Amino acid sequence: MITNSIDLAIKALKQLDIVAIPTETVYGLAANAESEDAIAKVYTKKNRPLNHPLILHIGKNSNIEQWVNSIPDYAQLLIKQFWPGPLTLVFNLRPGSLSKTITGGQSTVAIRCPAHPLTQQLLDALDFPLVAPSANPFGKVSPTTAEHVETSFADPSLLILDGGRCKHGIESTIIDATATDSYHILRHGSITEDAIISVTNQAPGEPTTCTRAPGRLKHHYQPEKPLYCFENTGKLSAFLKTCKQKVYILSFNKNTYFPNFEGYQLPDNPKDLAYELYFQLRIADHSDAQLLLIELPANMGEWQGVYERLIKAGK
Ligand code: TXA
Ligand code: MG
Repeated sequence: MITNSIDLAIKALKQLDIVAIPTETVYGLAANAESEDAIAKVYTKKNRPLNHPLILHIGKNSNIEQWVNSIPDYAQLLIKQFWPGPLTLVFNLRPGSLSKTITGGQSTVAIRCPAHPLTQQLLDALDFPLVAPSANPFGKVSPTTAEHVETSFADPSLLILDGGRCKHGIESTIIDATATDSYHILRHGSITEDAIISVTNQAPGEPTTCTRAPGRLKHHYQPEKPLYCFENTGKLSAFLKTCKQKVYILSFNKNTYFPNFEGYQLPDNPKDLAYELYFQLRIADHSDAQLLLIELPANMGEWQGVYERLIKAGK
């Protein structure tokens, strides 16, 4: 059920039910992080493997030292600059401070302070933090509207707090902050590498071997229909000449080169592209095409978040 009532959401979370919540990135499937039963409901609902850890979502007044052993200086700078906002930091866990179900049994924990005003209000009203993976069945496209969540689960009893369409459209940037002197970007998002470097005054280091890389499964973020990715319009065009199936084309040159095909002209601005990506993949999935064809952006700068997701969503 979609609702605007924050009170209903508070009540449900206190009763250990799961509630879909809006964030500035994508919708999350939230539960009380202090209840094993509530956390278990999230894994079951998403059909998510138990070794895939969850992000702890906290209010802006929370003190993370209760869960975290030490906060490196660069992480302090990042928190100051970007929280609340679309940045997740992975820290060494203070042993015993959180359920192993959240951390996938690892000695690290991912924490994020979301910026969406409704969810901030919700977190302020609760005396426990929330776990909140993206509100989609495991491996599928993340939801950026309340209606997407509703269609993803087909469960009328699931409470969905409607906070409008998500501003960023792709999941948060994740940084491994387990090492004292050097960090590593585990997942790209709308907070870019350049923005991170300009705050920390240091470039990312090599990945530490002990940190589990998130979302490193080869396939993730997948639409229902097969999605083929192309480096450029020429390669997409060449494929089209041999293809006998009905296609849906998402191209930076859709209007110029493929005006008679069903599809979507991709925005040539990285923020707009991220905002539209999952939204448009869902529209494409609902078309009567058999194959979805999409052009990749550059694997650099502000485009990296979308590039990374498409590589995993594609065949
Ligand atoms: O923007 C977001 O981060 C959204 C919204 C709802 O907040 N949440 C989200 O959660 O994307 P999820 O569960 O779909 O993705 C979380 C990623 C997973 O790839 C997981 O492996 C990684 O975070 N992760 C969680 N805990 C980790 C840890 N301790 N070490 C490394 N990666 C971790
Ligand atoms: Mg997800």
